[in-house]
Amino acid sequence: MVQTVIFTLLLSCGLQFASSAKYEPTWDSLDGRPLPDWYDKAKVGIFLHWGVYSVPSFGSEWFWSHWESGDEKTVEFIKKNYPPDWTYQDFAQQFTAEFYDPFMWVNLFLKSGAKYIVLTSKHHEGYTLWPSKYSYSWNAKDVGPHLDLLGELAKRVKARGLHFGVYHSLFEWYHPLYLQDKANGWNSSNFVDTKIIPEMKELITTYKPEVLWSDGEWEAPDTYWKSKEFLAWLYNESPVKDVIVVNDRWGNDSLCTHGGFYTCSDRYNPGHLLPHKWENAMTVDKPSWGYRRNAVISDILTPHELITTLVETVSCGGNILINVGPTKEGTISPIFQERLMQLGSWLSLNGDAIYESKPWTAQNDTSPSPIWYTAKNETVYAIVLEWPSKNVVSLEHPDIITFFTQAKPTVTLLGDNKNKTLSSDSSDTQVTVTLPDKATVASEWAWVLKMVPTKSI
Ligand SMILES: *[C@@H]1O[C@H](CO)[C@@H](O)[C@H](O)[C@H]1NC(C)=O
Ligand SMILES: *[C@@H]1O[C@H](CO)[C@@H](O)[C@H](O)[C@H]1NC(C)=O
Ligand SMILES: *[C@@H]1O[C@H](CO)[C@@H](O)[C@H](O)[C@H]1NC(C)=O
Ligand SMILES: *[C@@H]1O[C@H](CO)[C@@H](O)[C@H](O)[C@H]1NC(C)=O
Ligand SMILES: *[C@@H]1O[C@H](CO)[C@@H](O)[C@H](O)[C@H]1NC(C)=O
Repeated sequence: MVQTVIFTLLLSCGLQFASSAKYEPTWDSLDGRPLPDWYDKAKVGIFLHWGVYSVPSFGSEWFWSHWESGDEKTVEFIKKNYPPDWTYQDFAQQFTAEFYDPFMWVNLFLKSGAKYIVLTSKHHEGYTLWPSKYSYSWNAKDVGPHLDLLGELAKRVKARGLHFGVYHSLFEWYHPLYLQDKANGWNSSNFVDTKIIPEMKELITTYKPEVLWSDGEWEAPDTYWKSKEFLAWLYNESPVKDVIVVNDRWGNDSLCTHGGFYTCSDRYNPGHLLPHKWENAMTVDKPSWGYRRNAVISDILTPHELITTLVETVSCGGNILINVGPTKEGTISPIFQERLMQLGSWLSLNGDAIYESKPWTAQNDTSPSPIWYTAKNETVYAIVLEWPSKNVVSLEHPDIITFFTQAKPTVTLLGDNKNKTLSSDSSDTQVTVTLPDKATVASEWAWVLKMVPTKSI
């Protein structure tokens, strides 16, 4: 009898395990996990590169590596401005963050229209923005701001209904254990076992991020990083197993091939539809991810360039992750604030064509200037990147001509608060839509035609 009860208990436990999806540490199994659906709906995220490199804020976030490898400009900059015995570690004391106000940051992020935030928890320099047990005396609590910069932001971001995510670099340029494993031709894994895996688990269990944006994977295979075992833990056991999304940077053999969403390369923007969810991680200061004091205005994307990139990305099935680098004082420079708010003003009028949209059957149209399509349910959106001469938009893709013939859509301009139906005309070779007088239109930079079928197809 007792035996039967125990057997029944065991059996029901077994069944319970069987019914909760269990991922194996193989790419076949891990790649089969569906992306939590908040991610595709969100479309727009903000990326923040912040670390000790924000102190020299010269060149880029690769400052330390440039210096070590003898890059002329970096070496000259140090020689001119710092004492002869200055080390990279000395910069950390000047990482003051005295104006850091995560509440104000989140106000800005909300105004930008972004739905998720990804902060560099640790870049290739190894300095952690949270008080990691595995980065003793090289973290934001021990040296520099003396704050848990990451924890403060995580709390604020989540409290205001945005998704919080972290970037994390697997490799560290000069970590002795990493260099040792590398010298061993990756046949040892002390760095991964004693530093990287415990550190990532600490990060996940303490802050419960919804994005883990991995990087710094490219020198070694995923077997060295034990990425598949880590991801199986993340998907099966971690406190964020049902909500977290990850990217594809898990070893020199995984980019654009394995993981969650694909990033393929920095600033990836293929211009055509991909069969797999992807993300365009790009930066508003074109040459750098970290803040640069020596940036000039022509380095900064214009609002039109930023919105163009957003539209191309979303039309082709991607999310966009827009980077700005905060300063060592903890501010976000006014030029970045302005761009993010311009993006937000555009999205507040036109977000219907972006958030929760899906790629349409055609992605873009040529004539006379670029037009990109998105769709939601039966509705099709045409995003017009240049105001047409004589106020007439012409659409020439065969799919849009068929759509007009079969669905007989009504066309309105997003942001027109009267929802006035625009006159349209279609022939075998084109559809033309007459826009209102530009002076009466609220949107700037790009305009969205919303085309709602009147007949089902
Ligand atoms: C690992 O590689 C190092 C350096 O190539 C070599 O000396 C050592 O014998 C190797 N160890 C194993 C266990 O293969
Ligand atoms: C990945 O790195 C390993 C070790 O350096 C190397 O043997 C392998 O060829 C690399 N694979 C790719 C796809 O680059
Ligand atoms: C769509 O955009 C891509 C990439 O910009 C371009 O190569 C292609 O010619 C465009 N197609 C049409 C039909 O406009
Ligand atoms: C539109 O599609 C979404 C799923 O893509 C669905 O949740 C929603 O109910 C649909 N809305 C309408 C009005 O059909
Ligand atoms: C215009 O359409 C929007 C979105 O469908 C709707 O929220 C708004 O109430 C409409 N305005 C008028 C004046 O019909």
